[in-house]
Amino acid sequence: MNNDTLSRLSKTTIRLHWVIAFLMIMLLASGIYMASTETFALYSWHKSFGILVFGIAVIRIAWRIKQGWPKHVGDYSLIERALSKATHWILILGTVAMPISGIVMNAMGGYGVEAFGVELFPTNTGPEGPFDFVAINEPVADFAHAVHSLAGDVLVIAVALHILGALKHHLLDRDATIRRMLGSSTQG
Ligand code: HEM
Ligand code: HEM
Repeated sequence: MNNDTLSRLSKTTIRLHWVIAFLMIMLLASGIYMASTETFALYSWHKSFGILVFGIAVIRIAWRIKQGWPKHVGDYSLIERALSKATHWILILGTVAMPISGIVMNAMGGYGVEAFGVELFPTNTGPEGPFDFVAINEPVADFAHAVHSLAGDVLVIAVALHILGALKHHLLDRDATIRRMLGSSTQG
């Protein structure tokens, strides 16, 4: 890794971060809202964008494996580094755990899986018509549902912690952590 890599983040890292950050925040908010208010009109959008996140997240994880994690901008305490590392791991794993659990709960629950109108897994309906969804494997669907809800709660906390951490760097440490993720160098 050369000095430039330390002071700047690549365009790929920055673009992938902000696209996924935006979609994840939208999906967490829409998921909690639609599940608690039973707003079924949102479900198909939620599922389609959730599957889109999955595709982008796989590329991002491949990018992380190739590049490693970004180096810290400053000399932070051991606790701070550990907390930030743990949060980054939870966030990045959440970008695949959420879509996978969502897909499994829908596919195994008999609801089928569709992304932007393209059928990826068929519905499984009973004798009472097209909305009589019959589970293919109920225990697996229930387990995936529980994972989706629990991981969703964990992610809301992790995202809040992550944003607070970023703001702490910007407002208290006054370092370049946020500026670097916005595309400027640590010197700039
Ligand atoms: C307004 C919201 C957000 C802000 C201000 C923000 C800010 C930042 C900043 C400044 C960094 C660089 C940290 C460093 O240099 O060590 C970073 C890294 C990271 N952020 Fe965010 N972030 C936000 C939302 C999210 C969300 C929703 C996710 C969920 C997936 C996320 C996942 C990550 C990950 C995994 C990293 C590690 C570096 C990487 O893989 O690109 N961020 N974020
Ligand atoms: C990154 C992607 C995703 C995120 C962050 C996310 C987040 C959430 C959250 C936080 C909830 C509320 C859970 C609750 O309160 O019980 C939820 C509900 C839901 N999600 Fe996702 N989701 C994602 C992807 C998906 C995918 C890919 C599917 C299906 C293909 C899906 C299907 C659903 C369904 C059907 C519900 C409603 C469950 C209910 O009515 O209890 N989600 N999602």
